[in-house]
Order: sequence, then C-alpha cells, then structure tokens
Amino acid sequence: MKKKVIIDCDPGIDDSLALILALNSPELEIVGITTVSGNVKADQGAKNALKVLKIMNREDIPVYIGEEVPLERELITAQDTHGEDGLGETNYEEADVKINYGGVDFILENSRKGDISVIALGPLTNLAKAIERDEEGFNMINEIVSMGGAFRSHGNCSQVAEFNYWVDPHGVKEVFDRSKVPFSMVGLDVTREIILTPNLIELIKQIGGDIANFIVDITRFYVDFHWNQERTLGCVINDPLAVAYFIDRTLCDGFTSYLDIVTDGKAIGQTLVDVGNFYRKEHNGRILTKVDSKRFMKMFLERIFPESKNDIAIVLNNSKYGVN
Ligand code: RIB
Ligand code: CA
Repeated sequence: MKKKVIIDCDPGIDDSLALILALNSPELEIVGITTVSGNVKADQGAKNALKVLKIMNREDIPVYIGEEVPLERELITAQDTHGEDGLGETNYEEADVKINYGGVDFILENSRKGDISVIALGPLTNLAKAIERDEEGFNMINEIVSMGGAFRSHGNCSQVAEFNYWVDPHGVKEVFDRSKVPFSMVGLDVTREIILTPNLIELIKQIGGDIANFIVDITRFYVDFHWNQERTLGCVINDPLAVAYFIDRTLCDGFTSYLDIVTDGKAIGQTLVDVGNFYRKEHNGRILTKVDSKRFMKMFLERIFPESKNDIAIVLNNSKYGVN
C-alpha cells in the first residue's frame, strides 16, 4: 500500500535531493508539494520544486505556495548556503506549469480527507498556520516527520539552533504545544552523519545523465559553502534522511520525549528535549539520535540510479573512498 504524503519544503538544495529520492520511492504517493519560506521565499521555493519535477518528468504533482513569512520573526533566508536562486545559482529553466497559492489550505483539505502524512523539510510555519486555522482537521494527519532541531549536536545557525526551527521558533512551538499528530524530529544529531562526499559526487558525475548532472550542478555551491563555513569536505544532505526515515524506520533510532523550543533571547530556536522529565509533561515527539548513514546512502543512490547498483557498491564498500 502506498503512503499518501505531502512534502512541505523550502527548496533548497537538500530539499531538491529529498524530492528526487521521494519521486524514486514506490512506497510514496506524493499528493502534492507545499512550499514555505526558509532557504528562499516560498514563491521561489515553488519555482525550484517545479524545476525538480520538470527534470523528473513529474509535473503532474501539484505545487502550492504556503506561508511567505514566519509567525512572528522577520524572515531570514539562507541564500548564502543555497545560492540566490536556492539551487546553487544554476538557473535551470523554469517549468511552464501553473503555480498554485494556498499551501496551508491544501494541507487541511487533504488532512480532512484522511490518510495523509506530512514530510516537513523546512520551517514549520505552514503546519502552525494549519493548526490555527483548523486544529481538528490538522489533527487528522496520520504523522509528521520533520527535518529540524538539534539535541546534543551543535546548531547551524547559532551554537544551539538548527535553521528550520530557528527561522520560525513560534511556528515550532505551535506544533509542539497544540498538535496531537505523531511527530518525529530528524535533527542535526542524525543528519550531520549524512555527507555527500566529493567521491560520491564524482560517482554521480560518472553515472551521468540529466538527473546526475542536475545533482552535481546544484551541489557545487553547497560544497563550497560547507568548506568555507565549517571545513566539511562535501555537503551535509539533511532533508533526504527525513524522506528515507519515513520510508524505513530502521534507518534511525531514538526515543520519545517532551519537546519544547526557545522562542526568544540568545538561544532562540534551541530545541529543548526533556530527557530528565523535568516538565513532567506528556511526550509530544520522537527524537532521532542514531542513524545507519551507510545504509541510508546505499538507499539514496540505488533508488535514484537503480541501473548503477554495482558501481555504487564499488564506492560504498571500498574504504579507500572514505565513505563511512
Ligand atoms: O538545517 C538544515 C535545514 O534547513 C534543511 O532542511 C535545509 O534545507 C534548511 O531548510
Ligand atoms: Ca529544507
């Protein structure tokens, strides 16, 4: 049975890789894509999502623009990381497909139909607005898997805050406090283990083809950012792990806890994971702390390039290529 999902995202380079993985995953029926302002503004994110759908020949999947600004904070985008266009300044041709507005309504229309899950790859502004607009309808969502937050891992926007949750901490608080939907937090504790290394990028280049070339093109800017920003060689691809975990729960391990978030001051955007049960509150989420990064990478590459399984094995299984 396929699982019906809405992918709520801010494409974004790693969002785009996550969409490519999702589109190559037979377990998923992607009912639609909603965009939210984060890496880039929601309207640019929608154009980028359509560029991915065009390359994947899946322009049948509708794209809806969601919230343009966070609940309370001024919008801060991440074009230093993802490029002005959000796709590594590759300026791929835009799809000539109508872009819809009404991302939040699209989420609620589908939640009320029942049997829908949401994979959230950006700030949670759309989900927060959906709760505010129709809490009962929102709570009919089967499950939310969200890339965001950090527990024991340091932040990527401050010492303690991860970007998606830092952009709109008030949106995260709405979801943490009011949602009754099973929630999994795929945070930096696990996504930092997922590195598309230069060897893996070269493998993709050698595999070749339009999709391979697109991935190589859009990750170039992202690799430069990672080296300049944090001396990571390659690039951390956060969002595809949320898609992979939605499909295969054995990829990651973690625990349930009461989750809260800091919404002001120096630590704004910090995820508070109540491991000591100090709040004595009901657990409102599962936080993931371990990942089988090699098995993820095998899944990611084999699903996108199924005809290259032997070549993928050569690189993944040979320690001289330095893939953990
Ligand atoms: O912190 C990483 C997350 O923020 C990823 O989802 C990336 O695409 C950005 O949205
Ligand atoms: Ca994202």
